[in-house]
Amino acid sequence: MSVTVLDRPRREARNAASQVTGAAAIHIKGLEKSFGSNRVLRGIDLDIPAGQFVAVIGKSGCGKSTLLRILMGLEEPTGGHLHFEAVDGDDTQPNTRIVFQEPRLLPWLSVAANVAVGLGEGVPHDLLRKETVSVLSEVQLSEKAGEWPSSLSGGQKQRVALARALVSRPGILALDEPLGALDALTRISMQELLNSVWRELGFTAVLVTHDVGEAVHLADRVVVLDEGRIVLDLAIPYPHPRPYGNPALAELEGQLLAAILGEARG
Ligand SMILES: Nc1ncnc2c1ncn2[C@@H]1O[C@H](COP(=O)(O)OP(=O)(O)OP(=O)(O)O)[C@@H](O)[C@H]1O
Ligand SMILES: [Mg+2]
Repeated sequence: MSVTVLDRPRREARNAASQVTGAAAIHIKGLEKSFGSNRVLRGIDLDIPAGQFVAVIGKSGCGKSTLLRILMGLEEPTGGHLHFEAVDGDDTQPNTRIVFQEPRLLPWLSVAANVAVGLGEGVPHDLLRKETVSVLSEVQLSEKAGEWPSSLSGGQKQRVALARALVSRPGILALDEPLGALDALTRISMQELLNSVWRELGFTAVLVTHDVGEAVHLADRVVVLDEGRIVLDLAIPYPHPRPYGNPALAELEGQLLAAILGEARG
């Protein structure tokens, strides 16, 4: 189910970007995860087309990070199926990356060297330099390449973490409350940045956030989890980039909040 509403040239540009990035579709069927007797995920069914931006919201402890960790291969499900599909329709093992709430930078490496970590070992020096310069420019941090992480603001550190995730051109980018620790204004500028790199690079994005406004601003679709199940899967059918203060989006926020608080069900 694709829910993005784009005019044709922009849709074609996004599809082209998705092919270049190797964006993958995600197919989740009957996914279960238990920790001992704690049934955290209780039968998740979710199909995410390649290049879609999905936000996942829900109360603390409802299983959002667990779902992301399973997508990243960091956690084994206890039941159900998960597979990834390339744009040509074949099964694939996509390049997946994750950004956390804390930037997790290495303090003894420069900004550029922290970003280069995202490419792994054995990459020729020239290519490493070229890719690092290019991604630092995408996150608008070119002038900080030679600085230490300790000299950066919180928002700048998080942009380095985003660059480290993007430098290998992931097909799927998972984001676990990446803006949760930032002040309101920095958050807004980071939302704009995230939206612009996603439109430019075409990866499939899965964003966990506690901020319902952020979810409707950035995502094509918002999924609400409660007690390990999807209780609402809501399309946000507005073109990107979206202006703030759209009353139609505020109405969708209201629906999502009601679902989180359990008011949508009897
Ligand atoms: N490694 C683990 N071992 C045991 N229990 C775990 C483990 N990881 C998560 N859990 C449990 O799974 C449940 C869901 O945790 P998860 O971190 O996915 O929640 P969340 O929705 O991301 O919450 P938050 O919004 O607070 O980040 C919690 O009850 C948690 O205690
Ligand atoms: Mg979490």
